[in-house]
Amino acid sequence: MYKDHSCGELRKSDSGIIVTLAGWVHRRRDHGGIIFIDLRDVNGITQVVFNPDISKEAHSIAEELRNEYVIKVSGTVSERPQGTENKNLPTGEIEVIATDLKILNRAKTPPFYINEEVEVDENLLLQYRYLQLRRLKLKENMILRHKIISFMRNFLDSKGFIEIETPILFKSTPEGARDYLVPSRLQPGKFYALPQSPQQLKQLLMVSGFERYYQIARCFRDEDSRADRQPEFTQLDIEMSFIDEEDILNLLEEMFTSLVENIKPEMELVKPFPRFAYQEVIDKYGTDKPDIRFDLELKDITDIAEMCDFTILKNVINNSGRVKGICLPNCAGLSNKQIENITNIARSYGAKGLITMAISSECDTDFNNLTAEKVKSVTTKYLTIEQIKQIISRFNARPGDMIILVGEAPNVANKILSSLRSELGVQLNLIDENKLAFLYVLDFPLLEWNEEVKRWEPMHHPFTAPMEEDIPLLDDNPEKVRARHYDIVCNGYELSSGSIRIHNRELQERIFKLLGYSKKEAEQKFGQLLEAFEYGAPPHGGIAPGIDRLAMILTGEKTIREVIAFPKNQNAVDVMSDAPDYVSDEQLKELHLKIKNEKEE
Ligand code: AMO
Repeated sequence: MYKDHSCGELRKSDSGIIVTLAGWVHRRRDHGGIIFIDLRDVNGITQVVFNPDISKEAHSIAEELRNEYVIKVSGTVSERPQGTENKNLPTGEIEVIATDLKILNRAKTPPFYINEEVEVDENLLLQYRYLQLRRLKLKENMILRHKIISFMRNFLDSKGFIEIETPILFKSTPEGARDYLVPSRLQPGKFYALPQSPQQLKQLLMVSGFERYYQIARCFRDEDSRADRQPEFTQLDIEMSFIDEEDILNLLEEMFTSLVENIKPEMELVKPFPRFAYQEVIDKYGTDKPDIRFDLELKDITDIAEMCDFTILKNVINNSGRVKGICLPNCAGLSNKQIENITNIARSYGAKGLITMAISSECDTDFNNLTAEKVKSVTTKYLTIEQIKQIISRFNARPGDMIILVGEAPNVANKILSSLRSELGVQLNLIDENKLAFLYVLDFPLLEWNEEVKRWEPMHHPFTAPMEEDIPLLDDNPEKVRARHYDIVCNGYELSSGSIRIHNRELQERIFKLLGYSKKEAEQKFGQLLEAFEYGAPPHGGIAPGIDRLAMILTGEKTIREVIAFPKNQNAVDVMSDAPDYVSDEQLKELHLKIKNEKEE
């Protein structure tokens, strides 16, 4: 071993002992002939002092040191002189008085500061990701991610789960994205698909009788990158037999609760996790992944608006639109510029316009003295005082509040308002960053109509079981069939998705048929699963929390790139290695592939 202690562990009680440390020069300061080094390793930072009166030789080598040099140093742990302690460092009460120094490796000047979180172009950071990973925050993120995975493994182990690895080279399993394909050398013209998730394989493991399976599973999806999406990501994939929804929901609630209490005890967790029906979250928040750390609930005032003579709203309502809005607390005094900003945000999500109602703070709390003049809005001349009162009461608004309304097709109104709600939650400082608001969404529709291709599509994946009592609706009212599906949402992110699965061939074939697969296609794509269902498949179900998203939320990051060691950039490129890359003609030939040049297309 090069070292007998880490740079994070020495304390006052260690004073007097002789230690050997090894790591990187984090910072170097020269104070009147005495050289101070902050020595960094994975566990922390320790100050090392090179005094020529203690060791001339060590001091003279220390003069050569530059940031990021790799060194090994021996010396005596000593209490820092009074007044020079560093309260921000766990090792801040001591320093090591060096007697020996060896330079293990030199370093060029890095392309950006390692010891300061100075903003740098992201592509440069990604190009030198291995250096960026030396920075404290990223290192802490990776350590937290490790703790999450390690906790999950121990938790599931204690519940009788076993971890089973499933193949990466497999066949397409649809999860709604494009597949990454791998050409076969041995089977000309054939391709493997990298798994979008191990969905079919984990179900097959249930048919094999494992009953409680999990895997820290790598998934691949060729879809547009977003802050919470990478082409390659990791799920905690879980599947269980002989269970129903409650078993999985309770297990996951216990896992997430104890995970947070163990790994992030300083964060406040709302318990028990509230449960919402799909329609309820859509009505209340306009989205199936709401951030419920703050209120700003959406309210529908279509019934009131249709009684007034405001033509714009009447037209919307006559065209099956809805009038919905949110109430911004203490915002009646927003300036025209601020209102214009909010309107622009709404427009960017498809709003034709925005109606505001600023309620004067001169109103009394019961609104007994309400007059039309006390509500600043274009709507007031079309509304009676009674109607204004009804609107105020629908929003539970108070004097000094601002109601904002949109009149749009229902799904457009929801999209605009849910986006506004998220943006304004941040702008109005309504979010407690220390809070974790988990929730369950249940009662999803099984299918959704895709107008473009004129076909039913699964709302999640085709293996989700319909609710038993809704099965008779499959033929004539498929839109009314509810799924035995559940989502876990946290702080506005979809964290996990899962369901009770279909486990018999007949029902699975019926669903494939409804989704437009011919018998032959279903057989070709999913034959192994269909056949397996004929050999005594147990009732089963599962779920898959996204580990990157969980780590992002727990580290307070805004993108999952910050919790993945080597992420891709927005264009799905690994900037460090420059992947994807061209391959040689020889490799292409072996794979029976020919690349068309653009002119040929
Ligand atoms: P789903 O497709 O909803 O379900 O994925 C489950 C969870 O995985 C995470 N996730 C992602 N994270 C980062 N980047 C992505 N591109 C990405 N896509 C998904 C999310 C999501 O909630 N087989 C089903 C699960 C099941 O039914 O058991 C599935 O994969 O956190």
